[in-house]
Amino acid sequence: MSSKDRLPVVEMRQIYKRFGGVTALEDVDLAAYAGEVLAIVGDNGAGKSTLIKILTGLYQPTSGSIIIDGTQRTIDSHSDAIGIGIDAVYQTLALADHLDPAANMFLGTELTHSFLGMRFLDNKRMRKEANQVLYERLGVQLRSMDVAAESLSGGQRQAIAIARAVYRSNLRVLVMDEPTAALGPQETARTLKLIQTLRSENLAIILISHSLDDVFAVSDQIQVMRRGRRVGLLNTAETNHQEVLGMIVGAQEGAAHV
Ligand SMILES: Nc1ncnc2c1ncn2[C@@H]1O[C@H](COP(=O)(O)OP(=O)(O)OP(=O)(O)O)[C@@H](O)[C@H]1O
Ligand SMILES: [Mg+2]
Repeated sequence: MSSKDRLPVVEMRQIYKRFGGVTALEDVDLAAYAGEVLAIVGDNGAGKSTLIKILTGLYQPTSGSIIIDGTQRTIDSHSDAIGIGIDAVYQTLALADHLDPAANMFLGTELTHSFLGMRFLDNKRMRKEANQVLYERLGVQLRSMDVAAESLSGGQRQAIAIARAVYRSNLRVLVMDEPTAALGPQETARTLKLIQTLRSENLAIILISHSLDDVFAVSDQIQVMRRGRRVGLLNTAETNHQEVLGMIVGAQEGAAHV
């Protein structure tokens, strides 16, 4: 079944965003589908991050609408987005460096148990559940769960941030802004595998990346942004690096406009 026959999990329609005199987004549409990876590509300043910051409640659009399961919704804050099942992991990851992986995963949603009428953190259960989500669901194995996050690699930290997003809400849409930018080849490969695992769990993934190799390895569709506009929407299987690059730099403007 092609994307066109199905209802997107999330749709953004005619989004505009102005920052004072700067128009960051102009009439941008986006549709993300369950079990698919939508890649967003474009040069620096093309508006990729701004678009997904609107989706995750960090910015309000100047105009335009967001539709979830066919119903128009407003996303006023990041917690609104999480409540709807939309979350993001950024390259600059908000992990607490001094806490272990489980504590990071449960930050803000700590599990507790009561003893003699007082509540205590249930560290044992948090570690067990953290390990379960990381290993059994995401296929990520850490050498030890008893380490501070600061001693983990970029890829491991990212896996924990993803596990947290997957765990804390009924996650349906995961946005990843440049997830491999700071990673070496091995960790990049692991992250791409993780994206495929999440995709097979029926999440809608929105992947922003400057790496066309990564984009071609894992995406179903590619949305090309240029100077605040969507200038292309391509099925990954039906395009190639050269065509996408041409759209990014504007060589094929006009013909490719959607
Ligand atoms: N908070 C802000 N205030 C003013 N202008 C902003 C703000 N955020 C983004 N912009 C502007 O909006 C435009 C789009 O920026 P955005 O960060 O979305 O680009 P991007 O495609 O994510 O680029 P990159 O690949 O470099 O991350 C740029 O011209 C940028 O300067
Ligand atoms: Mg960006």
